[in-house]
Amino acid sequence: MSDDLLISKGTKQEQYETLLPQIKALLDGEPDLVANLANVAAALKEQFNWLWVGFYIVKNDELVLGPFQGPVACTRIKKGKGVCGASWANAATLIVPDVEKFPGHIACSSLSKSEIVVPLFKNNEVVAVLDVDSIDLNQFDETDKKFLEDITKVIKC
Ligand code: SME
Repeated sequence: MSDDLLISKGTKQEQYETLLPQIKALLDGEPDLVANLANVAAALKEQFNWLWVGFYIVKNDELVLGPFQGPVACTRIKKGKGVCGASWANAATLIVPDVEKFPGHIACSSLSKSEIVVPLFKNNEVVAVLDVDSIDLNQFDETDKKFLEDITKVIKC
């Protein structure tokens, strides 16, 4: 594919619908997980310009910071801690409309107001999470959940 991402200016759904096939094409034939996580983070950041988009990878019973776009972030998160650790522990996508109301939220940046965390699976086990943070309250909804889950399913862990 061409090196440039085609950026959509339509509705949120249209933006995801334009992005998803491009992400599939970016990952097609590339087996390296770090390379693929890096390009997915970059593609999401370029399309949506959220504050922070990135991955934490399960290593030795902790989440360890992986490829991301945005401000520097905390490097290790225990299972059950913060939104990422809770998503891992529950093996489920979590939408947090207001991070200050989420018990135990880990504030990597004071600018972050809402977030969504989507787990990535291998053999039914969570092996990583996708974390997206926004400077706006109530940024994420069921459309984000659906498409971000679709995107994580494209990534072969
Ligand atoms: N907010 C996350 C921590 C990771 S950073 O925001 C990048 C959490 O509570 O899990």
